Amino acid sequence: MTPHDSTLDPEDWSEVRRLGHELLDDLIDQLSTVGEGRAWTPVPPEVRARLEQPAASFPTDLPTVLDELRRDILPYATGNTHPRWFGWVHGTGTVEGALAELVAGFMNCNVGGRDHAAVHVERQVIRWLADLFGFPADSSGLLVSGTSVATIIGLAVARESAAPGEIRRGGVAAAPAPLVAYASDGAHVSVRKALELLGLGGDSLRRVPANPHALEKMIATDREAGLHPFCVVGTAGSVTTGAIDDLGALADICSRHGLWFHVDAAFGGALILSERLRPRLAGIERADSLAFDLHKWMHVPYDAGCVLVRDAELHRSTFSADRNYLSRFERGAGAGHPWFTDFGPELSRGFRALKVWVTLRTHGLDRLGAMVEKNCEQATWLAGRIKDSESFHLAAPTSLNIVCFQAEVPAGSRIDSDDLNREIVMRIQERGIAVPSSAEIDGRLCIRVAITNHRTRREDLKIFLAAIEEIRREIVEGSA
Ligand SMILES: Cc1ncc(COP(=O)(O)O)c(C=O)c1O
Repeated sequence: MTPHDSTLDPEDWSEVRRLGHELLDDLIDQLSTVGEGRAWTPVPPEVRARLEQPAASFPTDLPTVLDELRRDILPYATGNTHPRWFGWVHGTGTVEGALAELVAGFMNCNVGGRDHAAVHVERQVIRWLADLFGFPADSSGLLVSGTSVATIIGLAVARESAAPGEIRRGGVAAAPAPLVAYASDGAHVSVRKALELLGLGGDSLRRVPANPHALEKMIATDREAGLHPFCVVGTAGSVTTGAIDDLGALADICSRHGLWFHVDAAFGGALILSERLRPRLAGIERADSLAFDLHKWMHVPYDAGCVLVRDAELHRSTFSADRNYLSRFERGAGAGHPWFTDFGPELSRGFRALKVWVTLRTHGLDRLGAMVEKNCEQATWLAGRIKDSESFHLAAPTSLNIVCFQAEVPAGSRIDSDDLNREIVMRIQERGIAVPSSAEIDGRLCIRVAITNHRTRREDLKIFLAAIEEIRREIVEGSA
């Protein structure tokens, strides 16, 4: 073969086929027995050192690279596929979703636009999700990396609604007055970040106690001060405790005052899958924009989030741009207008929709909803055991899937409560038994268990309880 004919394809496809089959077998073996292993394993120094090597200018054969992958990468995953992962808010994923990722990798689609199956899959998924949340049939949406980006997009459309066309041309200086937004105390940090990135500044976010009267008063005061209230962000499932704002009351206020209503339902949005829990989200169907994750409690493998926007035309006009080489034809590969790039900042976009499509198709909405219900019941059970315990006490009520609690400091002990709880979290993680995380409530550190894990069983919670009891005893005795 002359250099002019060379490609990156293998010379021997049968060898790649054999290695691929072996790798897939190993991956399925590992995932099907994940609960028998450690919940988290730190990356050893020698592995870190290898992962800091500079890029090689020469090729390395695939068997060697796959051996390195098995040795240095596979054993040190985040841990969220394990049944005793309870940290932060991480979804578990599914094997079907992982297979979809493999297919997406083979297809190598660019879903920014053009006319091909992946575009239709994403449109179908967006329609399914819009229907699920009670959004109108002509609403728009986009799959993104997660709720943080979905929130930037939702709030960009909200900003555009304050002065359509003007802000795109002239920046925020073209707004009728300085724009301000409102969110409850439990709002996620990504809301503030979005406002910063949109040029409005972090101070444009007003924190309001979860009280509709306080919100209305603040809006009136800001208007009197010459500011331009433009948006209220409701939280459906706060990251610390799972608290849900009164979305119906917020929607009422927004329609009374002509404000944009954005909802952050990053993980709480999954309650929509359960007939029993769905009423807690009442009012979400009135949002102007909704940001939520598929990679959290809906168990699509990372990363997959979604933004839905009620007014598709405003959504499109916030992002669509001059075309030139992107001009659309009525037939051929360049057809299929509007393209997804018209609804967000990205032109090149991967085939995220496939893993969402496969997850929703293979499990169905009801089974995914049953997992959400199961996790809430598990959290209630765990909270009950903590309440009955002499070694621990609850730090906040458990209303959903999150249990926040603290270890008791024995009378007369000099140990600091924050130090004790932090040490429990770190030791149980380092031992690979389970992964809780932490949160601060009323200025004090607590152990936080967020169960968004379809693999968790009652037995896993019992193992977790026995381990924290034992570790607390060790630390208390060690400090005596
Ligand atoms: C309530 C809430 N909003 C936003 C986010 C950010 O979501 P993502 O990590 O998908 O960007 C999270 C993440 O945990 C969250 O819990």
